[in-house]
Amino acid sequence: MKVTKAVIPAAGLGTRVLPATKAMPKEMLPIVDKPAIQYIVEEAVASGITDILIITNRGKGLIEDHFDRAPELEAKLTGANKEEMYHSVVDISRLANIYFVRQKETKGLGHAVNCARSFVGNEPFAVLYGDDVIIGEDPACGQLTRAYEEFGQGVLGVKEVSPEAILKYSSLKVDPIRDNLYRCTDMIEKPAPDQILSLFSILGRCVLPPEIFDILDRTKPGAGGEIQLTDAMCELARTTGMVAVDFTGKRYDMGNKLGIMQAQVEIALKHPEIGTQFKQYLKEIAATLR
Ligand code: UTP
Repeated sequence: MKVTKAVIPAAGLGTRVLPATKAMPKEMLPIVDKPAIQYIVEEAVASGITDILIITNRGKGLIEDHFDRAPELEAKLTGANKEEMYHSVVDISRLANIYFVRQKETKGLGHAVNCARSFVGNEPFAVLYGDDVIIGEDPACGQLTRAYEEFGQGVLGVKEVSPEAILKYSSLKVDPIRDNLYRCTDMIEKPAPDQILSLFSILGRCVLPPEIFDILDRTKPGAGGEIQLTDAMCELARTTGMVAVDFTGKRYDMGNKLGIMQAQVEIALKHPEIGTQFKQYLKEIAATLR
């Protein structure tokens, strides 16, 4: 079955990036000239997704405005030589069918995904975490939906992380299938050192079957007192099995300060308008460092 729906949870409080995120959603933090969430929506669209539900909450109205039309601004950009700017503004509202729903209480990523039940219906769907930007030739979401279409099982976007990082993420039990594909039969969120199953962790993308909603309904709060998506996916991995894709592409964690700066620098270096100048600037700065 083709995957055409995606859910972007963007209702977190972003406490690791305060005070920037006091009034501004972290998903709207810009990387050079586009907010993080626009890169994510563009990745979904490039992966064949046509319908996107963004999970928001109070104070995230800026996200809705960004994907809407902006008549006054558009009117200002209709003059000569402004066509490119005009399209950069208008085209955002035409990317896909974008819907919004509010997570009324911030009870965790699993709880946020469960708010998508009526949008998703009885279809498989992709989840793209609102603070994980992945840049690559082959869109990461598309790599996962292709695996879903091949295996008909839930799919996890994974990468190996350091032994220190795994303690803060999820850890998966995996066996190789072929190339960058693995079978996943167990997982744990924020493992203690003696609970680590492997250094493979879920990073920002998955494709889930609709059965996940019944599992989420009975998932109790886990690590940090939140309803963890990993705990629900663990049941799926143990019962039906899941497929893990060690995706190609560079992932930037926009949920922490260092990740934000890495994204800024690396994406600015490749930017068609400022890339060359920025590289020169960076070389000058680097030469002064010791
Ligand atoms: P994080 O745990 O990284 O986001 O959730 P957070 O809670 O905003 O982070 P900190 O720890 O306070 O800095 C991963 C994704 O899940 C969403 C977040 O918006 C992010 O995209 N999320 C998290 C929700 O939508 N709802 C929640 O209740 C929790």
